[in-house]
Amino acid sequence: MRSFTALSLAVMACVLSTGAEAATNPFPMPKCHGFTLEEATIDSIQARLKSGRLTSHQLVECYVDRVEKINPYMKGVIELNPDLYKIADDLDKERHHGKVRSAMHGIPILVKDNIATADKMNTTCGSDALIGSIVPRDSHVVALLRQAGAIIMGKANLAEWADIRSDNYSEGWSARGGQTRNAYNLTQDPAGSSSGSAHSVSSNLVTVAIGTETDGSVIGPAQRAGIIGIKPTVGITSRNGVIPESHSQDTVGTFGRTFKDAAHVLNAIRGIDKRDPVTEEQKGRVPHDYTKFVSSKKALKGVRIGIPWKRVWQSSTTVNQLPQLFSAIDELKKAGAIIVNNTDLPSIEIISSDPPAWNWMYKNGLGLNNESEFTVVCYEFKRDLNNYLSELKSSPVRTLSDIIQYNLDHQDTEMKYFKQELLVQCDSDPFTEEEYTAAAAYIHKTTREQGIDAALKNHKVEALLVPSDNWSLCTQIPAQAGYPIVTIPAGIDPFGVPFGISLWGTAYSEPTLIKLGSAIDDTLRRRKLPQFLEHTATNIPVNNEYGFYFS
Ligand SMILES: *[C@@H]1O[C@H](CO)[C@@H](O)[C@H](O)[C@H]1NC(C)=O
Ligand SMILES: *[C@@H]1O[C@H](CO)[C@@H](O)[C@H](O)[C@H]1NC(C)=O
Ligand SMILES: *[C@@H]1O[C@H](CO)[C@@H](O)[C@H](O)[C@H]1NC(C)=O
Ligand SMILES: *[C@@H]1O[C@H](CO)[C@@H](O)[C@H](O)[C@H]1NC(C)=O
Ligand SMILES: *[C@@H]1O[C@H](CO)[C@@H](O)[C@H](O)[C@H]1NC(C)=O
Ligand SMILES: *[C@@H]1O[C@H](CO)[C@@H](O)[C@H](O)[C@H]1NC(C)=O
Repeated sequence: MRSFTALSLAVMACVLSTGAEAATNPFPMPKCHGFTLEEATIDSIQARLKSGRLTSHQLVECYVDRVEKINPYMKGVIELNPDLYKIADDLDKERHHGKVRSAMHGIPILVKDNIATADKMNTTCGSDALIGSIVPRDSHVVALLRQAGAIIMGKANLAEWADIRSDNYSEGWSARGGQTRNAYNLTQDPAGSSSGSAHSVSSNLVTVAIGTETDGSVIGPAQRAGIIGIKPTVGITSRNGVIPESHSQDTVGTFGRTFKDAAHVLNAIRGIDKRDPVTEEQKGRVPHDYTKFVSSKKALKGVRIGIPWKRVWQSSTTVNQLPQLFSAIDELKKAGAIIVNNTDLPSIEIISSDPPAWNWMYKNGLGLNNESEFTVVCYEFKRDLNNYLSELKSSPVRTLSDIIQYNLDHQDTEMKYFKQELLVQCDSDPFTEEEYTAAAAYIHKTTREQGIDAALKNHKVEALLVPSDNWSLCTQIPAQAGYPIVTIPAGIDPFGVPFGISLWGTAYSEPTLIKLGSAIDDTLRRRKLPQFLEHTATNIPVNNEYGFYFS
């Protein structure tokens, strides 16, 4: 016995020393009162809560403990809700008395800091300029989450002003929250602007989160955090109480480590809101329960899925990951999917130009698509933001011009790393109403009927499969169309950072995207846990030389 132990120890020592090069996770996650909370789903947490062996109070304690350990490095959370435990206790009491409001009852969720909460927390879009402002009411989505029994655990960090501040800045940085870091490799771009929401979910600081997208802000960080992101059709989630960028494109989206979790959150936050008239369009077009579309691999059998190769796959910046993406396509084919290559958008030549021109446009903050997207977003931003600010009960700033002046007066904190070129440009109202109207009509026509809808119809496919590029047509086309997109983990790049694969569909096709997306996720199973590589990194800010300018 004794010699056997000695031998085992010697073998172990050997394993340990040879394994020393492999990075070890500096933040292993302990069990939570005997429950494996790491990667726990909403359904598994509900089962545990139901059994009486875990309370929401204990659940929150375990997550807060993890936030306190990891947040000093990753900075995904701007603030925690001071009423956290009181809310958890009330919901525990309700459960004890037999009342369970929904699948979200007693489940902690993080809310991006541009989504208003009428509680003790700030709603600032990451900017010091809005500290102390008082919102008139909860945003519609937060009110719905509270009704569903969710615990608003805190506010997630983001790229300040959700990326429409400067064309030379760092994704995930805000004056209030500092630099959100990528949970996989902390020296790397977390993507944004919903950076904190995505990376906090991926590193199990919380069960689920919500964020917002104008162009890429849900899909980008979800893919760089190796999780599921659902950006729904504009019209499914109310933007009332969301610090706006563009009412044509803004939408509230959901993050989960599984499709079912992201769908549970979508069930809770979708709904008609008289304060956001576009939500009327969902009447009769949304299912009662998105989770019932969550499927296994089998759902791919015989399903036609299109590949828009021209310009979209062709120009992907994830091109280095093509071998992993191609092996993913092969796995989908083996599962029975019919992959239809060259399912191109008829308008693709007009809505994109050659890569050198794209670079020029990035650098000049103009974007793709004949500048039309920028025209629309910039024109709406000033008006929509001033409208939001005018509704605040009290606020140190009331207009975009006030914010610009605030930044000038607080250079040491607000302008330490980045300027505010886009705020200034949009405040100068550079586009006429005629230019705006023409641009909006142009992007709708080219991305909808001559774009996604035509590709789906012409090739009789259920959805379009594209690389979840960190910045490309991947998010721009559905963003301009106001159409849905989901992302699914597809692999890990040479720096240890995940990348994803996305599905595009027509308006209100979330059921199809959830069905196929979850079937693809079940086939690929490529999500890996973050290992917090380089967790002591000090490269603040991460510089974003390709100039994302809004999302
Ligand atoms: C709101 O912001 C102020 C100023 O930074 C801070 O003192 C306060 O603690 C914040 N509220 C919460 C709940 O963190
Ligand atoms: C972008 O910002 C960085 C850091 O503030 C600066 O070094 C760089 O020159 C800027 N680039 C451009 C194109 O303005
Ligand atoms: C993101 O885009 C940039 C610019 O095109 C590219 O250099 C980089 O490799 C991309 N990153 C990933 C992970 O694809
Ligand atoms: C799709 O077709 C293009 C040629 O049009 C080819 O280069 C590419 O490899 C094909 N992609 C797949 C996934 O088969
Ligand atoms: C650019 O977009 C405008 C609408 O905003 C359109 O009238 C014009 O023809 C477009 N130009 C090109 C070169 O596509
Ligand atoms: C993390 O990313 C950096 C580049 O930002 C790279 O140099 C480094 O090798 C990566 N770390 C690991 C362990 O892959």
